Amino acid sequence: MCGIIGVTGRADALEMLLDGLDRLEYRGYDSAGVALSTEAGTWRARSAGSRSLADLRKLAEAAPPAAAGIGHTRWATHGHPTEANAHPHLDCTGSIALVHNGIVENAAAIATRLVAGGHRLTSETDSEVLVHLVEAHLGELLGDPTGSGAAGTGSSRGVPRGSEPDTAHGPAPGSSVLGEAVRRALVEVRGSFAVVVAWSGDPTRLVATRRVSPLVLGTAAGGAVMVASDVPALLGRAERFWTLDDGQVAELVPGGIVVTDVAGAPAQARPLEVAWNLEQARKGGFPDFMSKEIAEQPQAVADTLAGRLTADGTVGLDEIRVSPDELRQVDKVVLVACGSSYHAALVAKFAIEHWARVPVDVDIASEFRYRDPILDPRTLVVGVSQSGETVDTLQAVRHGRDLGARTLVVCNVVDSSMAREADGVLYTRAGPEIGVAATKTHLAQLAALQVLALHLAQVRGRLDTERAGRLLAGLADLPSLVARAVDRAGAVAEVAQRYRSVRDVFFIGRHVGYPVAMEGALKLKEISYVRAEAYPAGELKHGPIALIEPDALVVAVATRTPLWEKLLANVEEVRSRGAQVVLVANDGDEETARLAQAVLWVPRCEALLSPLVDVVPLQQFAYAVARANGRDVDRPRNLAKTVTVE
Ligand code: F6R
Repeated sequence: MCGIIGVTGRADALEMLLDGLDRLEYRGYDSAGVALSTEAGTWRARSAGSRSLADLRKLAEAAPPAAAGIGHTRWATHGHPTEANAHPHLDCTGSIALVHNGIVENAAAIATRLVAGGHRLTSETDSEVLVHLVEAHLGELLGDPTGSGAAGTGSSRGVPRGSEPDTAHGPAPGSSVLGEAVRRALVEVRGSFAVVVAWSGDPTRLVATRRVSPLVLGTAAGGAVMVASDVPALLGRAERFWTLDDGQVAELVPGGIVVTDVAGAPAQARPLEVAWNLEQARKGGFPDFMSKEIAEQPQAVADTLAGRLTADGTVGLDEIRVSPDELRQVDKVVLVACGSSYHAALVAKFAIEHWARVPVDVDIASEFRYRDPILDPRTLVVGVSQSGETVDTLQAVRHGRDLGARTLVVCNVVDSSMAREADGVLYTRAGPEIGVAATKTHLAQLAALQVLALHLAQVRGRLDTERAGRLLAGLADLPSLVARAVDRAGAVAEVAQRYRSVRDVFFIGRHVGYPVAMEGALKLKEISYVRAEAYPAGELKHGPIALIEPDALVVAVATRTPLWEKLLANVEEVRSRGAQVVLVANDGDEETARLAQAVLWVPRCEALLSPLVDVVPLQQFAYAVARANGRDVDRPRNLAKTVTVE
């Protein structure tokens, strides 16, 4: 949540910041802002509202030339989405600018202290205290008698570039006074953060640091050095990528990066291999990222399976850092996830239990650690997360680790926080997903989790060669089956057009069709703002059927999964109460189709693999309803792609 970016050593720093903010908008779009450092001072522009980036571009026409600056796109947590709350925040002197992603948990206590010390805070955000803390420590380091830098002495202004602090309080060699001020400030802060600081007293230097929240550094020929919340913001600009460990502080100067640990001792950034390219982060002729990413699903599934299904009929997962021996010890699997990732996990429960015969719990990550789960070294806790940064899931995985369980994550972002912290990682290979609603990463998760389920089954001796061969062949067919489903967007849009004015939709399914229905409902509600709820179809008669009145819309996942006949009986129950019925059905299945006002046809495949195919028309249905209602499908209201707050 919130996107941050910084660049130094580029004559076109401002353009790169604005372009980077465009690419980071999926992390939040309540407001946007930039600050540039020059010898003459710090220049800042901010804008709030749904057109904040476009408005910011206009304001930026008045910007002075600068080779260094920082930018931010906000998802509001503390404080309304106003310009006053927009980042970058400035200190009292107006010379230090700061952007922040995360939460400062002790902001209120720090603010009280700062105000008592003479600082003027002008926003409702938790973030603003950070820049004043840096100001205070910088003041101390520079010998400001007030210790705040805010008492009108302008002590943090006009300091010669790269000036050294007094030796009694000085930072480690190679680090600057600003780096030391940031280190000291952040020691006082509880919570999570990724922060970038600029200061006109040292105008080509940026200081970046992180705890929990993600941050990527990049370097390029010609001396440009940059930092951002996510890799897509730096694609096409950076040639080499680096990451920081929790608490490390990086000072970016043209041509180099100086890294220290939290105590100021020299440290190293870690190189990051990035396989993504700029084209993947662009719309490439599609009207929006969501339609592009739906179209990319066959490739996302193919790439996720590539090299993992071997010719000898086994699953090759040597990469996951959890050995077959360890997997044989496991007597319970716990899947933890949020949102669409949770739905993928629900499908995986069927596959793991059925193929590997290991009991599986699936937990909503935000609830998991608060229910005092029973875990031990024979439990495998699997975090499922596109971003690998969702704080709820990260904390759930940590909780598993703290209680002695083995931990594994399935995620799409290489070297994400979860990937680093878990014992093992199984990467999905969907490429960058920019649309806020998960589509291709959801399918890639489903594919990866099926592979994991088969792997568990094989190492535990639960699958004979013939059955394994059949299932592996079924998996290998998935990219082409998904492609056939994806190609039917036009037919799905025609159905959606008929129901474009619907205000309430019931999604129902049974067996693996139920998590598919849940995903269909989530997609519809999040991008079209239509009320959509999913129910296990057999549960309707225990209450929800009271809501069915003539012309209510019911969308049922009615493909040939094991409970298909029972599902049809449930469909009859809503039909007889006057509901309009749209069914997801297998090609040619007229017996099912006769129950529906409209059918979303999909190719048939093995029941446990069918969610990958069956969910596609539900994504397309949600997309088409949202577009027909003029919604911004890539930027649904109130949402952000990566949820780094609890
Ligand atoms: C829905 C969606 C969210 C995410 C959820 C978890 O379209 O994208 O529900 O699935 O926020 O995010 P990750 O997978 O990054 O942990």
